[in-house]
This record gives sequence, C-alpha cells and structure tokens, in this order.
Amino acid sequence: MKIIQDTQRNCARMAAEEYRKLLGENPHCVLGLATGSTPEMLYEELVALCKAGKLSFKDVTTYNLDEYVGLDGSHPQSYRYFMDSHLFNLVDIDKTRTHVPCGIGVTDEMAAHYDDEIKQAGGVDLQLLGIGHDGHIGFNEPHDAFDLGTHCVDLAQETIEANKRFFDGNVDLVPKQAYTMGIRTIMQARKVLMVVNGAGKAEIVKKAFFGPVTPEVPASILQLHPDFILVGDEEALSLI
Ligand code: F6R
Repeated sequence: MKIIQDTQRNCARMAAEEYRKLLGENPHCVLGLATGSTPEMLYEELVALCKAGKLSFKDVTTYNLDEYVGLDGSHPQSYRYFMDSHLFNLVDIDKTRTHVPCGIGVTDEMAAHYDDEIKQAGGVDLQLLGIGHDGHIGFNEPHDAFDLGTHCVDLAQETIEANKRFFDGNVDLVPKQAYTMGIRTIMQARKVLMVVNGAGKAEIVKKAFFGPVTPEVPASILQLHPDFILVGDEEALSLI
C-alpha cells in the first residue's frame, strides 16, 4: 500500500496525473469509476487536462461502481446523471463505451452479467474508490461477503443518512437499495486508487488500513491488494 498526503487540490492533481500516465501508455484502457463528493475535484482536473489537450478519453472504456435501485439515468441523483454531468459530457469519451449499472428492472442474473462484460473488456486497469463512513467501498456495506461480484445490496442506515444531503436532506427520498460491483470485482482491478478527504473520514481510514482485514470494514480488504494507492488530505490521514 502506498500512501500520499497533500492538500485536497494537490491530491486531485496527483490522482489526475495517474490517469494522464495510464491513458498516455494505454489509450484503450478500462477505468473503474466512482461517484460521490470525493471524486468531484479529480474529475474537474481530468476535464481541464482533456480541454488542454493533455489527455484523451477517446478510446477508453469505463465501468462505474454502482447505481441506486429505482433511479434511471435521467434522475439528477442517479449515478449515470452524475457521471454524465461531471465527466462524460465534458470530455472526448465515446459514451457508448461508458457503463453504469442499470438501476431499473434488473435481476441479480443481469447484475452478474456486468462482471462478465468487465472481463470481456479486458478487466479494469485502474479502479477509483472513495470510502463510506462505515468503511463501505462501492456500496458493499459492513458484513457483505468479500467474494461477491456485482449484486444488489440493502443500504446501511448510516449510508442512507450520509447521502440524504443529495436528496434535499430528506431520508425518505434516498433509495434503500443499490446495485454495486462486489468486493471480488473491485479486487480484480489491476490497480486501485482511493481518494479520501476531510476529518470525517479520519477514523474509518485508520480502522480500514491499520486495523484487521474484516468484512466488518469492507475497505480493509484493500490491504491485500498488490497495487493500492491511498491519496488523502491531512485531515483524512490525521490518525495514521
Ligand atoms: C460512489 C461509491 C461510494 C462513495 C462513498 C463515499 O460511487 O461507491 O462508495 O465513494 O460513499 O462518498 P463521498 O465521496 O460522497 O464521501
């Protein structure tokens, strides 16, 4: 595990540099992408690099981690909508090669097919992650099995509470389930990059990366990933 600490902006710049390097070396690479507050600054940096002609997404394929059950891509809080508005609509990517799990009318079998698609595309070269306050990655909540592929999950109450800020602060509007890549899917990525910001993440960062590897803290499995980089600001890394 490699740990890098800097300001939030510099973290985003360093993370963007990882993408510039990877896309330069392998323009046809497969990216695993995340949503939430954490990657917003990184996506800003990627858009700026693309606009400056320093990086191109032209031949890239992407797979997002997760999507809420019941929201289709036109819902402003859906993760498809997030990705379109924060990245895909702003860079030179071929949108037919961007994938976000479907949140509507999907069965578990159809969800598992997402993993087959990723495999057929060659597997994820670089997986981006944030971390939930309860240690979730994607929407793999505490106690989910480590060996699952893409599947439907019941969101933990803590996650529903944390995400109500995107739904006018109304907990009733937050979907209670989501489709998520499983831990197995995430661990198969060749390289994993987690970005963490803010004092609110300090406790869980310490637990996940300096405590035991346990399904109680899903992110702790990343201690076993052969190429894992943790990039965080001073507040988020203050307890390690
Ligand atoms: C998002 C995702 C989640 C978030 C996590 C942190 O696609 O899979 O695991 O990374 O909930 O969210 P933020 O960045 O909003 O604190």
